[in-house]
Amino acid sequence: MSALTPRPGIMKIAPYVPGKDSVDGKEPIAKLSSNEGALGPSPKAMAAYAKAAADLHRYPDGASEKLRKAIGRHYGLDPERIICGAGSDEILNLLVRSYCGPGDELLYSQYGFLMYPINALGVGATPVAAPENDYRSDVDAMIAKITDKTRVVCLANPNNPTGSYVTKDDVRKLQKALPKNVLLVIDAAYAEYVSKNDYESGVELVDQFENVVMTRTFSKIYGMGGLRLGWMYGPAGIVDVISRLRQPFNVNLAAQLAGIAALEDIAHTDASRTNNDIWLPWLAAELTKLGLKPLPSVGNFVSVGFGSKERAAAANDWMMKDGLIPRMIAGYGMPEFLRITVGTEKEVKLVQDSLARFVAQNK
Ligand SMILES: Cc1ncc(COP(=O)(O)O)c(C=O)c1O
Repeated sequence: MSALTPRPGIMKIAPYVPGKDSVDGKEPIAKLSSNEGALGPSPKAMAAYAKAAADLHRYPDGASEKLRKAIGRHYGLDPERIICGAGSDEILNLLVRSYCGPGDELLYSQYGFLMYPINALGVGATPVAAPENDYRSDVDAMIAKITDKTRVVCLANPNNPTGSYVTKDDVRKLQKALPKNVLLVIDAAYAEYVSKNDYESGVELVDQFENVVMTRTFSKIYGMGGLRLGWMYGPAGIVDVISRLRQPFNVNLAAQLAGIAALEDIAHTDASRTNNDIWLPWLAAELTKLGLKPLPSVGNFVSVGFGSKERAAAANDWMMKDGLIPRMIAGYGMPEFLRITVGTEKEVKLVQDSLARFVAQNK
């Protein structure tokens, strides 16, 4: 009898390595490795979470109905066309499992979110990366990579880890070039942070076309990564498909209640956005003054070029010694960069101070 063997593709997966959360086993002064939302969760979400404790013996509402209605009200969307998940990661995985299989291709942009190729390999499909232009997704390059095997195209907009975004005209151009049997997944995890006139999150395209979905998360601006809550908005046909495959109780009770409360706390969300609007440009400008190369970002993080992988690794060690945790992104093919989440005023100033001392000693 032959030995136990996993399905094809799985052993090609390099396991996803999350951002570090401690320095030599100790609590960091600032964890800036996972883009978690500088201000943390809303006090209202925390209160809803605490209140859920008495009901932990109850199964959650399997359809997340109240939460879907709250998302629908907040974003002006039809709740019937929303599906909630255990993080947008779960939804991204369900979409790939539903529409991609052995022999198919999943297309994404060179520095796109790592879960896209991982999900493709997990179903035995081939991940195909289109080259980027100056760390920006290049829709023409993506279109050039479409073949008759392409089944799913994943576009993070804005993208992690580069922080760049694709204009609405370019996303439309990409959609237009796709055959009708190819799904376009617009992963808008950082949409709430963007205030550019030529950006749209994907809602408009979902409303217009049968082969486009948009995914969103509570892990970033809502500061609830620990609870695992995300959602997608899609055409009725795709919502029906995903509803068949998803686990019946995929979103836990506390996440549903805290998610509703977080949406209601507009002041907290506004404060989180304002924090980013102030400290992202400040940090980028300060790092530029130090001679470093921050990529232009519209997310709640910035990827900073150090000129070489050795210097980036040295800067990582230096920051860690100061109790600050950035993210090394060699796994994305960007070993000469560190990605740094935009934290609070105190945190970004510590980053500036740490890197100023680093640069002074490591010209
Ligand atoms: C572009 C992008 N998409 C999706 C996710 C997954 O978010 P979550 O599963 O926490 O909703 C992340 C998290 O870092 C991300 O950066």
